[in-house]
Amino acid sequence: MAAYKFADTQLRFPQGFLWGTASSAHQYEGINDNNDWWTWEQSGRQHGDQHVYQNQTSGTACGWWEGKAEEDIHLMAGLNNNAHRLSVEWSRIEPRPGVWDQSAIDRYRQILHTMKAAGIRPMITLHHFTLPNWAAERGAWLHPRIVEDFARFTRKVAQSLGDLCETWCTINEPNVYALHGYFKAVCPPARAKLGEYYAVLLQLLHAHAAAYRVLHEIQPAAQVGIAMHLILWEPRSRTNPLDRLAFGFLRHNFNSIALEALQTGRWQPTLARPGVYPRLANTLDWVGINYYQRYEAGFRVQSRDPYNLLFAGRPNDEKGPGWWGEFWPEGLLLHLEHVHRRFGLPIYITENGVPDAKDVHRPHYILDHLLRVQTAIEHGINVGGYYHWSLVDNFEWREGYNPAFAFGLYALDQQTQSRTPRRSASLYREIAATNALRVNMAEQYAPESLTAIQAALKTARG
Ligand code: BGC
Repeated sequence: MAAYKFADTQLRFPQGFLWGTASSAHQYEGINDNNDWWTWEQSGRQHGDQHVYQNQTSGTACGWWEGKAEEDIHLMAGLNNNAHRLSVEWSRIEPRPGVWDQSAIDRYRQILHTMKAAGIRPMITLHHFTLPNWAAERGAWLHPRIVEDFARFTRKVAQSLGDLCETWCTINEPNVYALHGYFKAVCPPARAKLGEYYAVLLQLLHAHAAAYRVLHEIQPAAQVGIAMHLILWEPRSRTNPLDRLAFGFLRHNFNSIALEALQTGRWQPTLARPGVYPRLANTLDWVGINYYQRYEAGFRVQSRDPYNLLFAGRPNDEKGPGWWGEFWPEGLLLHLEHVHRRFGLPIYITENGVPDAKDVHRPHYILDHLLRVQTAIEHGINVGGYYHWSLVDNFEWREGYNPAFAFGLYALDQQTQSRTPRRSASLYREIAATNALRVNMAEQYAPESLTAIQAALKTARG
């Protein structure tokens, strides 16, 4: 892999590496008022239930639907990016069962055309946490017809947008979706049953497999994957058997069972009926990793979870706000190595980022994580691209527009819709422009990363 290196002052990425940002429809588009999240926001506000931070609602979000997408694509191009991951909103395209809204499809076509003209290659996600109201009211992901309906929606999207996109992400973070909606009860439909966590996760995998087939049928060259949220779990105490049990349980049931099933067809939940589903097997062309943080796993009697499971960042490490967990870049390398060894498929980092309005941590967070990506590539792991979460501050689900949860390379003033670059935007621009990590980037933006970059360069030279 020596070909990637240049002189000895930089760590190169392969030619054609995709540099992008990631977004999602509900978090960016605005007035997305026909889905379950919108309904959940409004009902939280009406009843003062704090479904979202300060009872906020997504409102106009980043204004993409009304024209701001074009401005942001211009920003992407200005960052020398060549890729972007966005999602399409099912409730816009199919506002009622079997009824298609051509104007919504046309708007997506416009956005994709603008990306194409700007040299930005899209990756489309088909499901990113929201469901049309009609599907939610009927029983959401527990309804027996949902997989069939999702396949029909996928077919329509592939037929309508397939000439402008060939990389598809079926479902964003099925494990987080099922955990938050069906076990932790913090997102719609706010249920708290482990059995439903498993049932919904399995249903999402069936939906993925159905979409995988539809996409390949319509577009034989399609590259289809899924974005899995992988947490680096650690037992709270390595010597405490209960903590080790919690650790093993979370690692297996959160990180592993879904991907394993999509590779082998074997479904092996710890506390639900296992099964073999041949139609799930071999339905990945690539694996998407959404990686953010490390969490401790343990048991804490009277925790808010019904099983007394504890997921928390350790008190003394550098970490994000509130429940957010610790920065742990090494975890990304460990996941890359594991996924590569286990599945042998191309990998994309479909999300990685940090909530940091003041941009104190973000520059070194970016450099430290990309360093691990570069190391993985040097070790022969096929990583095709990196999509930073996110381009602009956006509607952060239950954290709403809480300033402590600002993820953008650009700060957003939600009222005026103006964007202001953070220093990290310049750093990311330089990385994408040079297709490399350089010592002077750490010197200028993130002295905390200097030692690690120098060490990696030394290893590369040796
Ligand atoms: C989700 C995004 C979210 C991000 C930051 C991911 O789990 O896919 O929608 O905004 O994390 O919290």
